[in-house]
Amino acid sequence: MKIVVLTGAGMSVESGLSTFRGGGGLWDNYPVEQVATPEGFAANPSLVLEFYNKRRKELQGKKPNKGHELLASLEKEHEVIVVTQNVDDLHERAGSTNIIHLHGELMKACSSRNPNDLRQVRTLPSHSAEIIIGDKADDGSQLRPYIVWFGEAVPLMDDAVLALRNVDVFVIIGTSLNVYPAAGLLNYVPAKVPVFLIDPNDVEVRGVRGVTVIRKGASDGVEELIEKYLKHL
Ligand code: OAD
Repeated sequence: MKIVVLTGAGMSVESGLSTFRGGGGLWDNYPVEQVATPEGFAANPSLVLEFYNKRRKELQGKKPNKGHELLASLEKEHEVIVVTQNVDDLHERAGSTNIIHLHGELMKACSSRNPNDLRQVRTLPSHSAEIIIGDKADDGSQLRPYIVWFGEAVPLMDDAVLALRNVDVFVIIGTSLNVYPAAGLLNYVPAKVPVFLIDPNDVEVRGVRGVTVIRKGASDGVEELIEKYLKHL
């Protein structure tokens, strides 16, 4: 079977990372327009670099959870494409091999003049995974986090839509479906394809029929998806 999975911040909650929205979410503590927009970066680059340096340091102390691992193990029997809004590398570390990072990758840096020039994207060394003022990209501009900020294009959205070609099962895990275009991916799923949604809280799914909701956290939810549903499809 071909399985496409769309994941969000809730996927990594059981690894100890925060979500963005809801009580205690990251955007409660950091104004999104300051740390996650090109205007915020132009106004105060040190603040923005510091925010992501902190996120990177935090991530390095975390591990994939059982949900990530179960998704990776599905590759033994199925073709699996993970389309993630997460900038962490927990899917990779769990062993998933086919991942589309719609919103960028925390462990990478890019040019601030040409953020989508892939030739200038580099992986930060894990022993010094910081970007500081004065670190330069190949084009001489300040290095910035390889993150898609609000107001910027989402270049990998086309790849995510293409990933849906011949999909047999579509799974949504741990996303509030508030942020577009990622949330709109669901609308490209052909009508006959079963859709599963794993989330311990209510998520409003607009305009889509017949979603099977598994109201659990990512680890228990993926386990139930496999045992109760995928094995019988
Ligand atoms: P949100 O913070 O909006 O939503 C997180 C979802 O995870 C909610 O629906 C929670 O109910 C759910 N959740 C909480 N605990 C969970 C658990 N243990 N298992 C599974 N789900 C759980 O995060 P996203 O939808 O990912 O973008 O946010 C989308 C984008 O908005 C992010 O990629 C980020 C943010 O601004 C950028 O930074 C560009």
